[in-house]
Amino acid sequence: MANTITLEQQIGKGEFNEVYRSGELAVKLFNKGYSKADVMNEAYIQARIEEVGGINIPKLHSIPLMNDRYGIVMDYIPGKNMAELIYENPKDTEKYIDKLVDIQMEIHTKRCPYLIKMRDKLADRINRSDLDEDKKFELLTMLDGSPKHNKVTHGDFTPHNIMVGEDGKIYILDWNHASQGNASADVARTYLWLCLHHKEIAELYLDMFCQKSRTDKRYVQRWMPVVAGARLIKKKDGEEELLRKWVDVVLYE
Ligand SMILES: Nc1ncnc2c1ncn2[C@@H]1O[C@H](COP(=O)(O)OP(=O)(O)OP(=O)(O)O)[C@@H](O)[C@H]1O
Ligand SMILES: [Mg+2]
Repeated sequence: MANTITLEQQIGKGEFNEVYRSGELAVKLFNKGYSKADVMNEAYIQARIEEVGGINIPKLHSIPLMNDRYGIVMDYIPGKNMAELIYENPKDTEKYIDKLVDIQMEIHTKRCPYLIKMRDKLADRINRSDLDEDKKFELLTMLDGSPKHNKVTHGDFTPHNIMVGEDGKIYILDWNHASQGNASADVARTYLWLCLHHKEIAELYLDMFCQKSRTDKRYVQRWMPVVAGARLIKKKDGEEELLRKWVDVVLYE
């Protein structure tokens, strides 16, 4: 495989990066000044997940430094992400969400002892949030009392991070939030994201997941204050009001 990376065509854009095609490769190119440790960590997790086996992800190749910007070089997947497909074919939404749920359940069957523990990650974020000390204590107590699981969880399992290849094969992207922990918390995280950004499919998703996995909805709902509190540190425009509402559910229950 050729070593030269040329940025041929932009194929994606995130908050801190752009994604380019380079022949048979894709480069996730991070902004200048973006944490080197975070780039290495994302690539490390991707490599670990590759080793787990049975989870389809683009193969990781290298982490070059290009004009003061780090890139994660991986296989290019010809196709579209599931968010684009849902937007283009709204009548097939249920079919796509059904597939999304199947893949998420499959990922939860995997184990990877090298990943960070979800409860440590959530506790760290709650501690770093601007919630008052009483709220933090309440959320941390909830977290502490939750069942201790070690399932592989993607942590940002949304339609944008699922590539549907031209051949119909599905690949999961963007593993930097992965951890080992509780499946219901991972589902609560996806549900929260859908409530924030695609409210029209949030209930469909939660109903389908709970039905397929025979999970009582309340197991997922119990995680909402914790996952909402942990997301507050992102300080994303338009999210704060709803996140604080979810956090407060725990106080008045
Ligand atoms: N290997 C790849 N092959 C084809 N398209 C890709 C590939 N990697 C990323 N993309 C496209 O680029 C988009 C953004 O990529 P990715 O999800 O990794 O970044 P991001 O969402 O910015 O990450 P973050 O959530 O860390 O900000 C994807 O939704 C997908 O459409
Ligand atoms: Mg993404």
